Amino acid sequence: MCGIIGAISNANIVPILLEGLSRLEYRGYDSAGLVVANHGLQRVRTTGRVAELSNLVATQKTQGFTGIAHTRWATHGKPSEHNAHPHFSGKETKIAVVHNGIIENHEAIRTKLQQHGFHFSSETDTEVIAHLIAFNLKQTTDLFKAVCLSLTELQGAYAIAVIEEENPERIIAARKGAPLLLGLGKEGHYVASDASALLQVTRDIIYLEEGDVAELNRHSYKIVNCLHHQFGEPVQRIVHESHLTNEAIGLGTYTHYMQKEIFEQPGAVANTLEMVLNAESISPNIFGSKAEKIFSATNNILIIACGTSYHAGLVARYWMETIAGLPCSVEIASEYRYRDAIAVPGTLVIGISQSGETADTLAALNYAKEVGHQYSLAICNVPESALIRQADLRFLTRAGPEIGVASTKAFTTQLASLLLLTVTLAKMRKKLTINDEKQMIAALRHLPIALQHALQVEPQVKDWAKRFAEKNHALFLGRGAHYPIAMEGALKLKEISYIHAEAYAAGELKHGPLALVDNDMPVVAIAPNDQLLGKLKSNLQEVHARGGRLYVFADADANIESSEHLYIIRLAEHTGILSPILHTIPLQLLAYHVALERGTDVDKPRNLAKAVTVE
Ligand code: G6P
Repeated sequence: MCGIIGAISNANIVPILLEGLSRLEYRGYDSAGLVVANHGLQRVRTTGRVAELSNLVATQKTQGFTGIAHTRWATHGKPSEHNAHPHFSGKETKIAVVHNGIIENHEAIRTKLQQHGFHFSSETDTEVIAHLIAFNLKQTTDLFKAVCLSLTELQGAYAIAVIEEENPERIIAARKGAPLLLGLGKEGHYVASDASALLQVTRDIIYLEEGDVAELNRHSYKIVNCLHHQFGEPVQRIVHESHLTNEAIGLGTYTHYMQKEIFEQPGAVANTLEMVLNAESISPNIFGSKAEKIFSATNNILIIACGTSYHAGLVARYWMETIAGLPCSVEIASEYRYRDAIAVPGTLVIGISQSGETADTLAALNYAKEVGHQYSLAICNVPESALIRQADLRFLTRAGPEIGVASTKAFTTQLASLLLLTVTLAKMRKKLTINDEKQMIAALRHLPIALQHALQVEPQVKDWAKRFAEKNHALFLGRGAHYPIAMEGALKLKEISYIHAEAYAAGELKHGPLALVDNDMPVVAIAPNDQLLGKLKSNLQEVHARGGRLYVFADADANIESSEHLYIIRLAEHTGILSPILHTIPLQLLAYHVALERGTDVDKPRNLAKAVTVE
């Protein structure tokens, strides 16, 4: 979490820092701050958003040619101005630091530095980095060396950018365990947490690797790697051309990114499935050159993920077992990494992550390797992410940048990818005939259109949203592969409308949650026309008989009728195996419209952030 950006240029860099920060705000929005070198270090900080920082900067007429900036998701120390980055160290000559990540041994370093007379003015772990660099600067007299030396003492994850009052002609940047990239522009050089922040000035990007420390000057740069050597070895890194477009990262005609991203789903899924949409059969090579060998040795699946990505994994379990005949377990990454897990030979470990930077997911995949799992596959939306780099096999969801904190198009593209993977494994395990495979491909080909149809329920969902907006609690019910979809629907609602929502497998209702049901408790049910519909209808009767208000999303042909206190919205069609993907759409729309009714901050819900790069 937290977004950082730095710039050194021939022109005033303040507008670049502010525009970059606004692109990075999805990473955290508890406070914002920047510092520029201009006759000393000029710092502006606020507990407001980037828009507020822009106002302050305009009033104070802050400008300069070198600067660094930050948007914060608070970990150590509450959101306040004195905890906002950049952090300073030094009296006569100052250095300034911005940081994304967590320094795990910050207390020990803080104690040591206090003994050396350093005074701390915040509760953050970041201020420790600033003072440590200042401490080492006294010995090395060179900022680059002082940063390298300091990094050897830091445990945890960091992406940092540092500037110095004495020599404002350079920025030092370093990464370990948190994303950071350099931008090479005509007018200057830049550093940022992601490429969208730099699109305004350049498309030429260098992705820093673990342990890289870079020095940026206006017209030159150097990178060394300090992972194994204190002062590092010079390294060459490839310059990539970013293909991000302004359209992909802008709002366009939409009011919110979440709204835009919900409506982008037909296109996002079509892009993700592009390589099979015109094919007659599916090749395992779409998952990587070693896929055929690894899939042939696979007899078990372990999926690891967090949040919405975890829900995608839960749906995939039903598919893996039913279509591919593969045992499949799904684990929350933050739990798995601390369990005494047992490695089952022949397991393919699948990490699912939109960002590819979620600290728990990355650590859990490493742990899976440590306990003896041999093969891993990443399903991810960010090509240069740590997850993609660390897995043996990879599949990119091509959803485009997802900026709204509540995940939508990343989820449906993950589901489409997981279905593709299931079909591939099923085919290799001879669980599908050529004809079955053709039918599956035809179903996938139809998916973008089916999603388009599903979006048409919006006006009816809007009506329901008005009633939900007054509630404080809601229950979500589903069965089979639609149970995780109910979980995702509940998560969406609580994330952005702050209504307490819980999901239950409908058969579990009578084992406790039924006690909560009264005429003030909306119960949302997902009712696809599958073999469990009869069972689900009995569960709904249990709610109805106790005065509960039922809101049912049913398939077009589901034999279920509306009655008093039982309201139904029907999807346009019934799509069999694809049904969980389609039933996601009305639930996303419901959360979105309830949030609008309640006037919450849809794209930046309180206390949350999109990329959770801390444990
Ligand atoms: C955060 C986001 C969620 C996301 C989860 C996992 O909590 O707000 O939307 O599902 O992280 O993120 P990942 O990038 O690993 O999918």
